[in-house]
Amino acid sequence: MKYYLTTPIYYVNAAPHLGHTYTTIAADTIKRFKRMQGFDAVLTTGTDEHGQKIERAATAVGKTPQEFCDLIAEEFRRQWRILGLEIDRFQRTTSPHHAKVVEDLFLRCKRNGYVYKGSYSGQYCVFDELYVNDAKPGDPCPDCGRPTETVTEENYYFKLSEFQDRLLDLYQKQPDFIQPETRRNEVLAFVRQGLQDLSISRTTIKWGVPVPEEENHVFYVWFDALGTYMSAVDGENLWPADLHLIGKEILRFHAVYWPAFLWAAGLEIPKRIFAHGWLLFEQEKMSKSRGNMVRATPIHEVLGTDALRYFLLREVVFGQDGSFSYDALVGRYNADLANGLGNLASRVLTMIHQYRDAVQPKIPADTSAFGARARAVVEKTLDYYERLDFSKALEEIWKLIAWVDRIIVEYAPWKLAKEADQERLDLILYCAAETLRIVTALAYPVIPQSAEKIWSQLGITTPLKDSRVADLHWGHAEGGQKLGVVQAVFPRADAKAIVKMKEHEVAEYERQQELLGKKPAPPVPVFERDGAKITIEDFAKVDLRVGLVKSAAAVKGASKLLHLQIDIGEPQPRSIVAGIAEAYQPDSLVGRKVVIVANLAPRKLRGLESQGMIVAASLEGGAPVLAGFLEDVPVGARLK
Ligand code: MSP
Repeated sequence: MKYYLTTPIYYVNAAPHLGHTYTTIAADTIKRFKRMQGFDAVLTTGTDEHGQKIERAATAVGKTPQEFCDLIAEEFRRQWRILGLEIDRFQRTTSPHHAKVVEDLFLRCKRNGYVYKGSYSGQYCVFDELYVNDAKPGDPCPDCGRPTETVTEENYYFKLSEFQDRLLDLYQKQPDFIQPETRRNEVLAFVRQGLQDLSISRTTIKWGVPVPEEENHVFYVWFDALGTYMSAVDGENLWPADLHLIGKEILRFHAVYWPAFLWAAGLEIPKRIFAHGWLLFEQEKMSKSRGNMVRATPIHEVLGTDALRYFLLREVVFGQDGSFSYDALVGRYNADLANGLGNLASRVLTMIHQYRDAVQPKIPADTSAFGARARAVVEKTLDYYERLDFSKALEEIWKLIAWVDRIIVEYAPWKLAKEADQERLDLILYCAAETLRIVTALAYPVIPQSAEKIWSQLGITTPLKDSRVADLHWGHAEGGQKLGVVQAVFPRADAKAIVKMKEHEVAEYERQQELLGKKPAPPVPVFERDGAKITIEDFAKVDLRVGLVKSAAAVKGASKLLHLQIDIGEPQPRSIVAGIAEAYQPDSLVGRKVVIVANLAPRKLRGLESQGMIVAASLEGGAPVLAGFLEDVPVGARLK
């Protein structure tokens, strides 16, 4: 029985960070769980390499798009290899075979009458590669808050509007098509508002899959990207996918556009879409643009991949947002892995070495009290895994660890050995080892490398990878086998662990910068205004900074003013009063990156201190348009 699951294919504008790793680790965990259930599970991931955003990112570092994509795609591949993730297909959207599948998808839609030629004139968000239909020039993107760009181009439209009823019917009849429930409700609300036809080709950019028989058209990057899920397994009888695992911000593309494209093409739609939450770092979504990326390989170097996997899946409720911090990571590692599972394993195995010459006792006649407890945990844990509730699954397993720890203390095998109570000693040693076997197998999908180590220390010769849920029943191990050498699987981490991870993080960042051949920005040319020239030194006196709007509010009695709090990377955000109230709604500014003059003398406006100025173009009629960035820029970066 097959089980086909996918992660999103990641944009190559950023090197892989913990956000990407989070989804891919979750997918790897699900794959391993499905294999335990007896499925032939296949996992696809890959890289999304076309579109305007990538084209610009390549230009920014002086590379051709293809050279740039080759470098970053290899970074993703390398990372998954280092972390030991079981990726079956790594699909790049620049592979020739992929283009064929996308062309076929398009031709099918066209043949079936769902595609027509038109032209789009409106706003486009390059960061999200999203058409923002109802926006005006200068409006920010409703998803990310970045400035949209006006695009006017000839294109092909897809008749998305014809699929509203069919989509609503799908969500109704198959309530688990979109999970979790809160996300499903968001999609329902979006589709109920009505759907507009969607542009699926572009003529103002070149970096994309060419549309058949249309010289100037390349496919819209999402039409191209979604096709990856099929192109990766073309001709393998794996479609439809059993699960698309994604982050919540790209749900609309997967739950609305994708089924519509597939229906239009007369193809089967995926069975289930699960949109998990965001991994936050210091309260914000971890991302390249916020400059708060943490990489996975430094954690792997210091604590091991399993520490990261365990932390992410135990700490964050899958489906909700959750925070990453080094402190919390090391805290959990020591408490649950070093002191919890690691300690149990070395304790139980060492006792068997000591009292039974490293041979696990044969199964005693009556172990029912232990068995009942373990059986209940197995049942619950499998059910939580099935629902992708990883944190609950792990909680359940760790309850069993705590329980068997207590039972060992109660039985006190060291006393039984002294008293030569062989029967009770065999009972507790067998039951502790059998519980350890079950716990290890249950935890395997989340901590595969460490679980395999404990497995071989238990003296089991068939790899844990080949175990199936049926083997989880109590008493499956008959005992009598010789144990392996006992070694600490999770050595305790000390205070230096965090320092080491941060050092590795810097080294990894520098390696990636070098890889991209990043050079300092070229000098800013002298500019001319009203004929009066200034020197570059004059210009350098102005301290221009990238700022992030944290809050914005109207100023009482001043219809033109807004009061903003803007983070420019200093300990406190700047309080800035700006005359932009007639052009911008306060809410629409929150989360947007702007340019700030940071060394302007402070002054008071309507009783509020203004500690800087926002840079905006002033248009005829006086409406200001805020300066912004199309590329990713970290908060506090200086403009030169
Ligand atoms: N290329 C598109 C996806 C196309 S799929 C046909 C894209 N790429 S992306 O590089 O931006 O990756 C987005 C995905 O990476 C998210 O949906 C999520 O799976 C993962 N994450 C990236 N940052 C994340 C967090 N900070 N937190 C959790 N997941 C995150 O969108």
